[in-house]
Parts: sequence; structure tokens; C-alpha cells
Amino acid sequence: MEGISVRTFITFGFLLVCFFNWATCDYRTEENPYKHFAQVDPEGNYILEWIVNWDTRRITFNVTVATNGYIGFGLSRRGQMNGSDIVIGGVNRNGRSYFTDRHGTGNQIPEIDDIQSYILHDAWERGSRTFLSFSRPFDTCDNEQDVPITDDLLQVIWTYGETDDEIQYHFQIEGQCQSIYSIQT
Ligand SMILES: *[C@@H]1O[C@H](CO)[C@@H](O)[C@H](O)[C@H]1NC(C)=O
Ligand SMILES: *[C@@H]1O[C@H](CO)[C@@H](O)[C@H](O)[C@H]1NC(C)=O
Repeated sequence: MEGISVRTFITFGFLLVCFFNWATCDYRTEENPYKHFAQVDPEGNYILEWIVNWDTRRITFNVTVATNGYIGFGLSRRGQMNGSDIVIGGVNRNGRSYFTDRHGTGNQIPEIDDIQSYILHDAWERGSRTFLSFSRPFDTCDNEQDVPITDDLLQVIWTYGETDDEIQYHFQIEGQCQSIYSIQT
């Protein structure tokens, strides 16, 4: 994403959510088939919703965060930054959205993937909140720089910043995994 300088530090906090058994879980309800909701931080500043479409084999993530800065979201096999699958996006001051598919390479700003496998569907900023809606296939076929969504347990990593043009980076592990069953609505 252009305009983002690598300067200081933020937290790639750990989320208390783990995804597993995508292939076998069935959370269908009449109103919200396969729709899930998670508040990932104790303050409720970062809200994640996702919906699984078994026909197209894609997952759509909606993220609403109490910030006017950027949003980071990622999937990690072992809860580590290195090798994790990350997107960073937001809406900048002139109302333009930005969004990139990235991968963690250790304790530094996630690098932009050669293949952009996520699609941004919607992005807006209202008041002090930013919203992103994006999707990806279960298997992006980019095994180098994305994490495939399979039966394996995955952890969600997340972060956000106060501004759009300054990505800060600090990796922090906290919390523990919790089954997807206990966060479904
Ligand atoms: C995500 O937001 C869009 C509106 O942009 C909405 O149509 C869709 O139902 C939402 N999906 C989930 C999983 O919350
Ligand atoms: C990240 O993982 C790769 C292999 O998966 C390894 O070669 C590399 O040294 C790791 N980098 C860090 C910073 O841990």
C-alpha cells in the first residue's frame, strides 16, 4: 500500500479465536447460513464476522474496527508471524481504499504477496470506525505466501493503527485458542 512508512511499532496481537474443521462444521441457520461473529479484543474495538460459502468455496471476512487508521488481519498456522497470511487495508484521508495481501516474514512489516489472492469487496470509514469486507478461496493455490484453509487449526492474528500512513509493528502473543463452536452466534 503506497504511503505507508515503516516507522514505529504496533501490536499484532493474538486473537482468542481459532478456526478448525472448516470442512465438516455445519452452522447453518435459516437466517445466517455459516455466519460467525467474534469480538477479538477485550475492549470490543475489533469485530470480526465471517461467512463460509461452500458452493464457491470462499470465505468472506467483515472486519469493523474502532479506528480511522489501517486494519491488519491474518491467519497463522502456529500463531507465529513468520509464514502467516496477512492482509492490511483501510480508507485513507481522501476516501480511497487500499488493501494488500501480504505474508509475515518474521518480526518486520509483512511483505506484499506476488499473487494477490484476497478480494476487497467493500471499505468505508464512518465516524471513528473503519469497515472492510474481503474474501478469499479456501485454497488460494499460493502455498508459498498464503495459508490454505483446511481442517487444520488456524489462529487469527490482528492489529490496527491510529493512522493510515504509518504502520507500526510489534509482535505480541497473548491469549489462547478457543474453538469456533463457542463463538458462533
Ligand atoms: C459483510 O458486509 C456486507 C456489506 O458490505 C454484507 O452484505 C454481508 O452480509 C456481510 N457478511 C458478513 C459475513 O457479515
Ligand atoms: C521464517 O521461516 C522460514 C522457513 O519457513 C525460515 O527460513 C526463516 O528463517 C524464518 N524467519 C524468521 C525471522 O524466523
